Amino acid sequence: MKKDYSLQGLNTMGFNVIAKYFCEVNSLDDMKKLIDDKTFKESKKLFLGGGSNILFTDEYFDGIVIYSNLKGIKISESQQSTDKEFPQFLNSSTPEFLTVRCMSGEVWKDFVDFTVSNNLYGLENLVDIPGSVGAAPVQNIGAYGSEVKDCITKVYTIDIESGEERVFENEECEFAYRNSIFKKEENKKYFIYAIDFRLKRNAELKLEYGNIKDYLSKKNIKSPTLSDVASAIKTIRAEKLPEVGVVGSVGSFFQNPIVDVDKYQSIKETYPEVPSYPNDNGVKIPAGWLIDKSGWKGYRENHVGVWDKQALVLVHYGGGRPEEILNLMTKIQESVKEKFGIEIKLEVNLV
Ligand code: EPU
Repeated sequence: MKKDYSLQGLNTMGFNVIAKYFCEVNSLDDMKKLIDDKTFKESKKLFLGGGSNILFTDEYFDGIVIYSNLKGIKISESQQSTDKEFPQFLNSSTPEFLTVRCMSGEVWKDFVDFTVSNNLYGLENLVDIPGSVGAAPVQNIGAYGSEVKDCITKVYTIDIESGEERVFENEECEFAYRNSIFKKEENKKYFIYAIDFRLKRNAELKLEYGNIKDYLSKKNIKSPTLSDVASAIKTIRAEKLPEVGVVGSVGSFFQNPIVDVDKYQSIKETYPEVPSYPNDNGVKIPAGWLIDKSGWKGYRENHVGVWDKQALVLVHYGGGRPEEILNLMTKIQESVKEKFGIEIKLEVNLV
C-alpha cells in the first residue's frame, strides 16, 4: 500500500490527482489479504481500471484506490487451458463458440487485438477503446453497433465487505446502454477479477453502423475480413477521437439522450438533417450533434475545451484543474437545455 500516490498516469484526463492510499492487486490472495487490512476497512474505496471513464472532481482522493494488475487469458471451457497460445488449439474440431476467460487487469484494446489475431469474432467493433478489461462490463462499453454485453457470459467478483466470491451471470448484470448493476452505489463493493467472453469462430461481422461500409468501399475491400473491420474502425476512431496520452479526455463525456417522438419531430422541423436512432423508448439523438449545433465544437477556455472533431469529447490540454472541466460541462449542459430543451446526462463517472 503506497501513500500519497499520484494518479496522473492513471486517469486519461491527465489531472494530477493524489490518492491518500494506492494498492496494486497482483493476485486474488493479495485481494483477500487486503480485505482484512485495518486501513482498508476504514477507508473510502475506489476500483480503478485504466481511468478512462472517470473524472476526479478534486485533486485529492481521500481514500484507497485499488488497481487490478491481474493478468491472464485462457480458454475456459471444453479446452485445456493455455496462456496466450491459442492457435495450437484452434483446429477444425474446435467448437463454433469458445469461452475465453480474461483477467480484469488486462488492457482492453490489447485483449481485443488478441481475439482478432486469433480469428475470434465478437469484440472487433470495440477495438481501441481505452481502459481495462475489468471496467468493460461496468458501463457496458459500446461502439460501432456493438456492446460488450453481447459477448459476456459471466463476471467473476469478490465482495470486498464479506470476502466472498460471487459470479454474475449475464442476465444478472442488468446490462443497458452504458449501464450495469455494477454502477449502482450498493454494488460498488464487487471487485471484478475476471470475465468470461463467448466468442464466435465463424465469420459474423457488423458493418451497419456509421461509415464502416464507406470506409471499406473507399479502400476497395469487397469481402472484408475480421482484421479489415478492426483496422477500419481503428482508423475511423483515430480520425475522430483525441489520442490517449497526448490530449486528456474520457471519450464520450455525455450519454446520447433518448427523447420522445414529439420532441424529435420538433427538432427535425428546424433541423431536417438531425441524426436519429429510434429505439423502444423513443428516439436517440447524438449528444455530440446537439453540442455541435449549440456552437461548442472546437471551443477552448484556458486548459480545457471541446474536441474539434467530435463535440461529445471534452478535453484537457494539460496543466489544468478538474474544476475547469466541471465548469465547462455545466455551461454546455445549460446551453443544450436552453437551445433544445434536452438535458444531457453524464457518461463519465464523477468521483
Ligand atoms: N455529430 C455531429 N457533430 C459532432 C459529433 C457527432 O454532428 O461533433 C453527429 C455525427 O455526424 C453522427 C452522429 O452525431 O451523425 C453520431 O456521431 P458518432 O458516430 O461519432 O457517435 P456518437 O453517438 O457521438 C457513440 C458513442 C461512442 C462511440 C461512437 C461510435 C456514446 C455516448 N458514444 O458516439 O463511444 O465510439 O458512438 O460507435 O454512446 C465512448 O463511450 O466513450 C465513446 C467514444
